[in-house]
Amino acid sequence: MSKLYLVGIGPGSSDYLTKAAIECANSVDVLVGSQRALDLFPGFAGETLVLRARNMDEMMKKSISLVDEGRNVAILSTGDPGFSGVLKPILKLQEDLDLEVIPGISSLQLAAARLQLPWDEINLLTLHGKGNSQVILDYVDNGKPTMVLPDFRVEKLAQFLIDEGTNPERKVSVCERLSYPDERIVTGNLREIAYMEFSYLCVMVVY
Ligand SMILES: C[S@@+](CC[C@H](N)C(=O)[O-])C[C@H]1O[C@@H](n2cnc3c(N)ncnc32)[C@H](O)[C@@H]1O
Repeated sequence: MSKLYLVGIGPGSSDYLTKAAIECANSVDVLVGSQRALDLFPGFAGETLVLRARNMDEMMKKSISLVDEGRNVAILSTGDPGFSGVLKPILKLQEDLDLEVIPGISSLQLAAARLQLPWDEINLLTLHGKGNSQVILDYVDNGKPTMVLPDFRVEKLAQFLIDEGTNPERKVSVCERLSYPDERIVTGNLREIAYMEFSYLCVMVVY
């Protein structure tokens, strides 16, 4: 029976790709993923479908229909599929799928490791694709560090927090392009971060 696999590929570098993810990706007929995810499997000989922000919905539906046609399909999800990844949209589309999730190392986990921050009692939040919203304000005021995936621009999130009344001197860390050769970890305050430039691949911690 054919199956849909949701495969976590870690934060980006092949150093953080698990053996289970590699074995699964190499066993399927079709690999679906962003270009940076597909690039991790240069030897894959089957069909590949490139996932882009614009065609997410279409590619999810196509993956499900390919499974219905009898093919094994793996959708590659950066980090872990269960956090701000493909698991939620797939479950929304169809609940009775023959589905298997292969977990991956989340960008949140690598950020916590880099910052030597135990993450069992912190706030975890994603604003990715949702815009900067008031939701984060309750988190940053509850006395625990907040680890957040920004809505693309971390500097705009820093400015949003200042505009909404968070102390501009509040300590924050930004973990940019984790696991890549140009990875950068910056610790400063909100005001400083709001005036810096970062790539869209960032995890922010508000202490
Ligand atoms: C759609 S979410 C996917 C999150 C993913 N499922 C995870 O567990 O890390 C994409 C966001 O994750 C964060 N992210 C993913 N890879 C990253 C990396 N290598 N370094 C820093 N942040 C990363 C960024 O905030 C990016 O915009």
